[in-house]
Amino acid sequence: MQKTIQHELRLAQRMSRLGTETAFEVLDKARALERQGRNIIHLEIGEPDFDTPKNIVEAAVGALHKGWTHYGPSAGLLDLRQAVAEHVSRSRGVEVASNEVVIVPGGKPIIFYSILAFADDEDEVIYPNPGFPIYESMIRYVGAQAVPIALREEKDFGLDLDELASLISDRTKLIILNSPQNPTGGVLRRQEIEEIADIIGDRNIMVLSDEIYSRLIFEGQHFSIMSVPGFKERAILLDGFSKTYAMTGWRMGYGVMRPDLAAHFSRLMTNSNSCTASFTQIAGIEALHGDQSPVEHMRQEFQRRRDVFVAGLNRIKGFSCRVPGGAFYTFPNITQTGWKSKALADALLDQAGVACLSGTSFGEYGEGFLRFSIANSMENLREALTRINQWASGNL
Ligand SMILES: Cc1ncc(COP(=O)(O)O)c(C=O)c1O
Repeated sequence: MQKTIQHELRLAQRMSRLGTETAFEVLDKARALERQGRNIIHLEIGEPDFDTPKNIVEAAVGALHKGWTHYGPSAGLLDLRQAVAEHVSRSRGVEVASNEVVIVPGGKPIIFYSILAFADDEDEVIYPNPGFPIYESMIRYVGAQAVPIALREEKDFGLDLDELASLISDRTKLIILNSPQNPTGGVLRRQEIEEIADIIGDRNIMVLSDEIYSRLIFEGQHFSIMSVPGFKERAILLDGFSKTYAMTGWRMGYGVMRPDLAAHFSRLMTNSNSCTASFTQIAGIEALHGDQSPVEHMRQEFQRRRDVFVAGLNRIKGFSCRVPGGAFYTFPNITQTGWKSKALADALLDQAGVACLSGTSFGEYGEGFLRFSIANSMENLREALTRINQWASGNL
Protein backbone atom coordinates (compact mmCIF):
# COMPACT_ATOMS: atom_id res chain seq x y z
CA MET A 1 0.00 0.00 0.00
CA GLN A 2 1.20 3.44 -0.84
CA LYS A 3 1.93 5.68 2.14
CA THR A 4 0.00 8.99 2.18
CA ILE A 5 2.30 11.93 2.51
CA GLN A 6 1.08 15.01 4.35
CA HIS A 7 2.45 17.72 2.08
CA GLU A 8 3.26 21.13 3.39
CA LEU A 9 0.77 23.77 2.16
CA ARG A 10 2.61 25.87 -0.39
CA LEU A 11 0.35 28.89 -0.14
CA ALA A 12 0.76 31.99 -2.25
CA GLN A 13 2.71 34.70 -0.46
CA ARG A 14 -0.27 37.01 -0.40
CA MET A 15 -2.08 34.67 1.99
CA SER A 16 0.30 35.78 4.75
CA ARG A 17 -1.03 39.32 4.30
CA LEU A 18 -4.70 38.44 4.65
CA GLY A 19 -6.21 39.71 7.90
CA THR A 20 -9.51 38.84 9.53
CA GLU A 21 -12.42 40.12 11.57
CA THR A 22 -11.72 39.48 15.25
CA ALA A 23 -15.44 39.54 16.04
CA PHE A 24 -15.75 35.99 14.73
CA GLU A 25 -12.78 34.80 16.83
CA VAL A 26 -14.16 36.36 20.02
CA LEU A 27 -17.55 34.81 19.24
CA ASP A 28 -15.88 31.37 18.99
CA LYS A 29 -14.10 31.92 22.31
CA ALA A 30 -17.32 33.09 23.97
CA ARG A 31 -19.19 30.03 22.65
CA ALA A 32 -16.45 27.75 24.01
CA LEU A 33 -16.95 29.34 27.47
CA GLU A 34 -20.70 28.79 27.14
CA ARG A 35 -20.10 25.12 26.41
CA GLN A 36 -18.28 24.99 29.77
CA GLY A 37 -21.46 26.27 31.41
CA ARG A 38 -20.59 29.98 31.62
CA ASN A 39 -23.20 32.65 30.95
CA ILE A 40 -21.90 35.18 28.42
CA ILE A 41 -23.52 38.38 27.16
CA HIS A 42 -22.66 38.82 23.50
CA LEU A 43 -21.76 42.40 22.66
CA GLU A 44 -19.02 41.46 20.19
CA ILE A 45 -20.84 40.76 16.95
CA GLY A 46 -22.21 43.47 14.66
CA GLU A 47 -25.58 42.26 13.50
CA PRO A 48 -29.13 43.32 14.31
CA ASP A 49 -30.77 41.05 16.88
CA PHE A 50 -34.12 41.46 15.08
CA ASP A 51 -35.62 38.99 12.62
CA THR A 52 -35.90 39.88 8.95
CA PRO A 53 -39.35 41.48 8.46
CA LYS A 54 -42.01 38.89 7.52
CA ASN A 55 -42.99 40.45 4.17
CA ILE A 56 -39.37 40.03 2.98
CA VAL A 57 -39.18 36.41 4.14
CA GLU A 58 -42.48 35.66 2.43
CA ALA A 59 -41.28 37.24 -0.81
CA ALA A 60 -38.25 34.93 -0.76
CA VAL A 61 -40.35 31.83 -0.05
CA GLY A 62 -42.75 32.80 -2.84
CA ALA A 63 -39.81 33.36 -5.20
CA LEU A 64 -38.45 29.88 -4.43
CA HIS A 65 -41.85 28.34 -5.24
CA LYS A 66 -42.01 30.34 -8.45
CA GLY A 67 -38.69 28.91 -9.59
CA TRP A 68 -36.26 31.78 -8.93
CA THR A 69 -33.64 29.12 -8.36
CA HIS A 70 -31.46 29.63 -11.42
CA TYR A 71 -28.49 31.75 -12.38
CA GLY A 72 -29.32 35.38 -13.06
CA PRO A 73 -27.37 38.23 -14.65
CA SER A 74 -23.98 38.87 -12.97
CA ALA A 75 -24.82 42.50 -12.21
CA GLY A 76 -28.15 41.53 -10.66
CA LEU A 77 -31.80 41.24 -11.73
CA LEU A 78 -32.89 44.29 -13.67
CA ASP A 79 -35.93 44.90 -11.43
CA LEU A 80 -33.78 44.99 -8.31
CA ARG A 81 -31.16 47.21 -9.96
CA GLN A 82 -34.01 49.52 -10.91
CA ALA A 83 -35.41 49.51 -7.36
CA VAL A 84 -31.95 50.29 -5.95
CA ALA A 85 -31.42 53.05 -8.53
CA GLU A 86 -34.73 54.66 -7.51
CA HIS A 87 -33.91 54.32 -3.80
CA VAL A 88 -30.44 55.82 -4.19
CA SER A 89 -31.71 58.62 -6.46
CA ARG A 90 -34.26 59.53 -3.79
CA SER A 91 -32.05 59.13 -0.71
CA ARG A 92 -28.86 60.71 -2.13
CA GLY A 93 -30.52 63.32 -4.34
CA VAL A 94 -28.60 62.31 -7.48
CA GLU A 95 -30.02 60.73 -10.60
CA VAL A 96 -28.92 57.08 -10.71
CA ALA A 97 -29.79 54.63 -13.51
CA SER A 98 -30.05 50.86 -13.25
CA ASN A 99 -26.86 50.32 -15.30
CA GLU A 100 -24.98 52.11 -12.50
CA VAL A 101 -25.98 49.48 -9.93
CA VAL A 102 -24.29 46.13 -9.29
CA ILE A 103 -25.95 43.67 -6.91
CA VAL A 104 -23.50 41.52 -4.93
CA PRO A 105 -23.67 38.96 -2.09
CA GLY A 106 -23.36 41.37 0.89
CA GLY A 107 -21.62 44.70 1.22
CA LYS A 108 -18.19 43.11 1.56
CA PRO A 109 -17.66 42.18 -2.12
CA ILE A 110 -17.88 45.87 -3.04
CA ILE A 111 -14.92 46.53 -0.72
CA PHE A 112 -12.98 43.66 -2.26
CA TYR A 113 -13.82 44.60 -5.86
CA SER A 114 -13.05 48.31 -5.37
CA ILE A 115 -9.61 47.49 -4.02
CA LEU A 116 -8.98 44.77 -6.65
CA ALA A 117 -10.10 47.07 -9.45
CA PHE A 118 -8.06 50.14 -8.43
CA ALA A 119 -5.06 49.24 -6.30
CA ASP A 120 -1.95 47.88 -8.00
CA ASP A 121 1.28 47.16 -6.15
CA GLU A 122 2.65 50.35 -4.63
CA ASP A 123 -0.59 52.28 -5.15
CA GLU A 124 -1.78 53.88 -1.95
CA VAL A 125 -5.21 53.48 -0.41
CA ILE A 126 -6.25 55.78 2.45
CA TYR A 127 -8.64 54.19 4.94
CA PRO A 128 -10.12 55.08 8.34
CA ASN A 129 -8.40 53.75 11.45
CA PRO A 130 -9.95 52.58 13.71
CA GLY A 131 -12.11 51.13 10.96
CA PHE A 132 -13.73 48.03 9.55
CA PRO A 133 -10.76 45.59 9.53
CA ILE A 134 -11.51 44.24 6.06
CA TYR A 135 -10.28 47.49 4.44
CA GLU A 136 -6.71 47.09 5.67
CA SER A 137 -6.78 43.33 5.17
CA MET A 138 -7.79 43.61 1.51
CA ILE A 139 -5.44 46.50 0.72
CA ARG A 140 -2.50 44.52 2.07
CA TYR A 141 -3.72 41.30 0.43
CA VAL A 142 -3.60 42.80 -3.07
CA GLY A 143 -0.10 44.15 -2.36
CA ALA A 144 -1.02 47.84 -2.25
CA GLN A 145 0.07 50.32 0.41
CA ALA A 146 -2.35 50.76 3.31
CA VAL A 147 -2.33 54.39 4.49
CA PRO A 148 -4.35 54.82 7.69
CA ILE A 149 -6.03 58.07 8.58
CA ALA A 150 -6.73 58.39 12.30
CA LEU A 151 -10.26 59.05 13.46
CA ARG A 152 -10.10 61.47 16.37
CA GLU A 153 -12.21 61.07 19.47
CA GLU A 154 -12.06 64.82 20.11
CA LYS A 155 -13.60 65.34 16.66
CA ASP A 156 -16.42 62.92 17.47
CA PHE A 157 -14.48 60.34 15.49
CA GLY A 158 -14.29 62.49 12.40
CA LEU A 159 -11.01 62.92 10.58
CA ASP A 160 -8.53 65.75 10.63
CA LEU A 161 -8.71 67.49 7.27
CA ASP A 162 -5.10 68.75 7.34
CA GLU A 163 -3.98 65.21 8.03
CA LEU A 164 -6.02 63.94 5.09
CA ALA A 165 -4.46 66.59 2.85
CA SER A 166 -0.98 65.55 3.99
CA LEU A 167 -1.66 61.85 3.28
CA ILE A 168 -2.84 62.32 -0.30
CA SER A 169 0.02 61.74 -2.74
CA ASP A 170 0.51 61.15 -6.46
CA ARG A 171 0.19 57.44 -5.71
CA THR A 172 -3.19 57.70 -3.95
CA LYS A 173 -5.67 55.70 -6.01
CA LEU A 174 -8.52 55.21 -3.59
CA ILE A 175 -9.84 56.85 -0.42
CA ILE A 176 -12.24 54.89 1.77
CA LEU A 177 -14.86 56.76 3.78
CA ASN A 178 -17.35 55.12 6.14
CA SER A 179 -20.31 56.90 7.68
CA PRO A 180 -22.05 56.03 9.98
CA GLN A 181 -18.89 54.36 11.11
CA ASN A 182 -17.90 50.99 12.45
CA PRO A 183 -16.55 50.80 15.19
CA THR A 184 -16.95 54.32 16.58
CA GLY A 185 -20.54 55.15 15.60
CA GLY A 186 -19.18 58.45 14.26
CA VAL A 187 -21.12 60.23 11.53
CA LEU A 188 -19.56 62.49 8.90
CA ARG A 189 -21.83 65.50 8.55
CA ARG A 190 -22.54 67.28 5.28
CA GLN A 191 -20.03 70.06 5.93
CA GLU A 192 -17.22 67.62 6.75
CA ILE A 193 -17.92 65.60 3.61
CA GLU A 194 -17.93 68.74 1.50
CA GLU A 195 -14.60 69.72 3.04
CA ILE A 196 -13.18 66.27 2.28
CA ALA A 197 -14.42 66.64 -1.31
CA ASP A 198 -12.72 70.06 -1.46
CA ILE A 199 -9.42 68.56 -0.36
CA ILE A 200 -9.63 65.84 -3.02
CA GLY A 201 -10.43 68.61 -5.50
CA ASP A 202 -10.35 67.51 -9.12
CA ARG A 203 -7.68 64.86 -8.62
CA ASN A 204 -8.35 61.55 -10.32
CA ILE A 205 -8.88 59.61 -7.08
CA MET A 206 -11.76 57.19 -6.49
CA VAL A 207 -13.69 57.31 -3.24
CA LEU A 208 -15.22 54.17 -1.82
CA SER A 209 -18.05 55.45 0.34
CA ASP A 210 -19.16 52.69 2.70
CA GLU A 211 -22.69 53.64 3.69
CA ILE A 212 -23.89 50.26 4.94
CA TYR A 213 -25.33 51.96 8.08
CA SER A 214 -26.98 54.83 6.14
CA ARG A 215 -30.45 54.11 7.55
CA LEU A 216 -29.18 53.80 11.13
CA ILE A 217 -28.63 57.40 11.98
CA PHE A 218 -29.95 58.92 15.21
CA GLU A 219 -29.83 62.66 14.70
CA GLY A 220 -29.92 64.61 11.47
CA GLN A 221 -29.69 63.32 7.93
CA HIS A 222 -27.33 60.94 6.20
CA PHE A 223 -25.15 62.64 3.59
CA SER A 224 -23.14 60.95 0.84
CA ILE A 225 -20.10 62.22 -1.04
CA MET A 226 -21.94 60.96 -4.13
CA SER A 227 -24.24 63.98 -3.73
CA VAL A 228 -21.35 66.44 -4.00
CA PRO A 229 -21.16 67.89 -7.54
CA GLY A 230 -18.33 66.26 -9.48
CA PHE A 231 -18.19 63.18 -7.26
CA LYS A 232 -20.84 60.95 -8.75
CA GLU A 233 -18.25 59.88 -11.34
CA ARG A 234 -15.53 59.41 -8.75
CA ALA A 235 -17.45 57.59 -6.02
CA ILE A 236 -18.41 53.99 -5.46
CA LEU A 237 -21.30 53.88 -3.05
CA LEU A 238 -21.57 50.72 -0.95
CA ASP A 239 -24.88 49.98 0.74
CA GLY A 240 -27.01 46.91 1.26
CA PHE A 241 -29.66 44.98 3.07
CA SER A 242 -27.69 43.35 5.94
CA LYS A 243 -28.00 46.05 8.58
CA THR A 244 -31.05 48.01 7.37
CA TYR A 245 -33.41 45.05 7.08
CA ALA A 246 -31.70 42.64 9.52
CA MET A 247 -30.63 40.43 6.60
CA THR A 248 -26.98 39.66 7.48
CA GLY A 249 -27.32 35.97 6.66
CA TRP A 250 -28.99 36.55 3.30
CA ARG A 251 -25.86 38.02 1.75
CA MET A 252 -27.08 40.85 -0.42
CA GLY A 253 -25.63 44.30 -0.97
CA TYR A 254 -24.89 46.65 -3.82
CA GLY A 255 -22.49 49.13 -5.32
CA VAL A 256 -23.46 52.25 -7.24
CA MET A 257 -20.90 53.64 -9.69
CA ARG A 258 -20.51 55.04 -13.19
CA PRO A 259 -21.67 52.55 -15.86
CA ASP A 260 -18.23 51.77 -17.35
CA LEU A 261 -16.97 50.84 -13.89
CA ALA A 262 -20.17 48.87 -13.18
CA ALA A 263 -19.33 46.72 -16.22
CA HIS A 264 -15.94 45.89 -14.65
CA PHE A 265 -17.56 45.04 -11.31
CA SER A 266 -20.02 42.85 -13.15
CA ARG A 267 -17.11 40.98 -14.74
CA LEU A 268 -15.57 40.53 -11.29
CA MET A 269 -18.90 39.02 -10.24
CA THR A 270 -18.89 36.67 -13.25
CA ASN A 271 -15.42 35.53 -12.24
CA SER A 272 -16.10 35.05 -8.54
CA ASN A 273 -19.78 34.44 -7.74
CA SER A 274 -21.58 34.22 -11.10
CA CYS A 275 -24.48 36.12 -9.53
CA THR A 276 -26.22 36.92 -6.26
CA ALA A 277 -28.86 34.29 -5.34
CA SER A 278 -31.92 34.97 -7.50
CA PHE A 279 -34.68 34.39 -4.92
CA THR A 280 -32.98 36.69 -2.40
CA GLN A 281 -32.95 39.43 -5.02
CA ILE A 282 -36.73 39.09 -5.44
CA ALA A 283 -36.97 39.54 -1.67
CA GLY A 284 -34.69 42.58 -2.01
CA ILE A 285 -37.25 44.25 -4.29
CA GLU A 286 -39.89 43.68 -1.59
CA ALA A 287 -37.52 45.09 1.05
CA LEU A 288 -37.14 48.35 -0.90
CA HIS A 289 -40.74 48.66 -2.10
CA GLY A 290 -42.58 47.24 0.94
CA ASP A 291 -43.44 48.63 4.38
CA GLN A 292 -40.48 50.57 5.82
CA SER A 293 -41.85 50.79 9.37
CA PRO A 294 -39.69 47.87 10.67
CA VAL A 295 -36.58 49.86 9.65
CA GLU A 296 -37.79 52.85 11.67
CA HIS A 297 -38.75 50.62 14.59
CA MET A 298 -35.25 49.11 14.71
CA ARG A 299 -33.63 52.52 14.44
CA GLN A 300 -35.66 53.86 17.37
CA GLU A 301 -34.91 50.79 19.46
CA PHE A 302 -31.15 51.12 18.81
CA GLN A 303 -31.39 54.76 19.83
CA ARG A 304 -33.11 53.86 23.12
CA ARG A 305 -30.44 51.26 23.86
CA ARG A 306 -27.67 53.64 22.89
CA ASP A 307 -28.91 56.21 25.40
CA VAL A 308 -29.13 53.69 28.24
CA PHE A 309 -25.83 51.96 27.46
CA VAL A 310 -23.74 55.10 26.97
CA ALA A 311 -25.10 56.64 30.19
CA GLY A 312 -24.31 53.38 32.01
CA LEU A 313 -20.76 53.18 30.61
CA ASN A 314 -20.09 56.74 31.70
CA ARG A 315 -20.90 55.77 35.30
CA ILE A 316 -18.24 53.03 35.30
CA LYS A 317 -14.84 53.84 36.79
CA GLY A 318 -12.23 54.46 34.10
CA PHE A 319 -14.73 54.48 31.19
CA SER A 320 -15.79 57.52 29.20
CA CYS A 321 -17.99 57.22 26.15
CA ARG A 322 -19.11 59.68 23.48
CA VAL A 323 -22.63 59.44 22.19
CA PRO A 324 -22.49 57.68 18.79
CA GLY A 325 -24.50 59.37 16.03
CA GLY A 326 -25.26 56.21 14.08
CA ALA A 327 -24.76 52.43 13.56
CA PHE A 328 -25.15 50.15 16.59
CA TYR A 329 -21.82 50.41 18.37
CA THR A 330 -20.46 52.24 21.38
CA PHE A 331 -16.73 52.93 21.55
CA PRO A 332 -15.73 53.99 25.08
CA ASN A 333 -12.31 55.37 25.92
CA ILE A 334 -10.78 53.13 28.61
CA THR A 335 -7.35 54.73 29.04
CA GLN A 336 -8.26 55.83 32.59
CA THR A 337 -8.56 52.16 33.62
CA GLY A 338 -4.80 51.84 33.10
CA TRP A 339 -5.42 48.67 31.08
CA LYS A 340 -4.50 47.97 27.46
CA SER A 341 -7.56 47.40 25.27
CA LYS A 342 -6.93 43.76 24.38
CA ALA A 343 -6.14 42.77 27.98
CA LEU A 344 -9.29 44.53 29.21
CA ALA A 345 -11.50 42.91 26.55
CA ASP A 346 -10.07 39.49 27.50
CA ALA A 347 -10.61 40.15 31.23
CA LEU A 348 -14.21 41.26 30.68
CA LEU A 349 -14.93 38.07 28.76
CA ASP A 350 -13.08 35.69 31.10
CA GLN A 351 -13.96 37.30 34.43
CA ALA A 352 -17.18 39.28 33.87
CA GLY A 353 -18.86 37.19 31.16
CA VAL A 354 -19.23 40.13 28.75
CA ALA A 355 -17.90 39.63 25.22
CA CYS A 356 -16.72 42.82 23.51
CA LEU A 357 -13.92 43.75 21.11
CA SER A 358 -10.62 45.49 21.72
CA GLY A 359 -10.35 48.80 19.84
CA THR A 360 -7.13 47.40 18.34
CA SER A 361 -9.23 44.87 16.38
CA PHE A 362 -9.97 47.91 14.20
CA GLY A 363 -6.40 49.11 13.78
CA GLU A 364 -3.57 50.63 15.75
CA TYR A 365 -5.46 53.86 16.52
CA GLY A 366 -8.08 51.81 18.32
CA GLU A 367 -5.75 51.38 21.32
CA GLY A 368 -7.39 52.90 24.40
CA PHE A 369 -10.92 51.90 23.34
CA LEU A 370 -13.34 48.97 23.44
CA ARG A 371 -16.25 48.29 21.09
CA PHE A 372 -19.56 47.12 22.49
CA SER A 373 -22.32 46.30 20.02
CA ILE A 374 -25.75 47.36 21.28
CA ALA A 375 -27.50 44.84 19.05
CA ASN A 376 -28.75 42.95 22.08
CA SER A 377 -31.84 43.24 24.30
CA MET A 378 -32.20 46.09 26.77
CA GLU A 379 -32.26 43.50 29.55
CA ASN A 380 -28.92 42.01 28.46
CA LEU A 381 -27.40 45.44 27.98
CA ARG A 382 -28.38 46.42 31.55
CA GLU A 383 -26.98 43.14 32.89
CA ALA A 384 -23.73 43.73 30.96
CA LEU A 385 -23.42 47.18 32.55
CA THR A 386 -23.91 45.66 36.02
CA ARG A 387 -21.26 43.02 35.36
CA ILE A 388 -18.71 45.49 33.96
CA ASN A 389 -19.35 47.86 36.84
CA GLN A 390 -18.84 45.11 39.42
CA TRP A 391 -15.69 43.99 37.67
CA ALA A 392 -14.37 47.57 37.56
CA SER A 393 -15.15 48.14 41.26
CA GLY A 394 -13.24 44.98 42.18
CA ASN A 395 -10.27 45.36 39.84
CA LEU A 396 -9.53 49.05 39.25
C1 LIG B 1 -18.52 49.22 7.81
C2 LIG B 1 -18.99 47.95 7.24
N1 LIG B 1 -18.96 47.77 5.91
C3 LIG B 1 -19.37 46.62 5.35
C4 LIG B 1 -19.84 45.57 6.13
C5 LIG B 1 -20.22 44.29 5.45
O1 LIG B 1 -21.57 44.08 5.39
P1 LIG B 1 -22.16 42.72 4.79
O2 LIG B 1 -22.45 41.82 5.95
O3 LIG B 1 -23.39 43.14 4.06
O4 LIG B 1 -21.15 42.14 3.86
C6 LIG B 1 -19.89 45.71 7.52
C7 LIG B 1 -20.34 44.59 8.37
O5 LIG B 1 -20.16 44.53 9.54
C8 LIG B 1 -19.45 46.93 8.09
O6 LIG B 1 -19.47 47.12 9.42
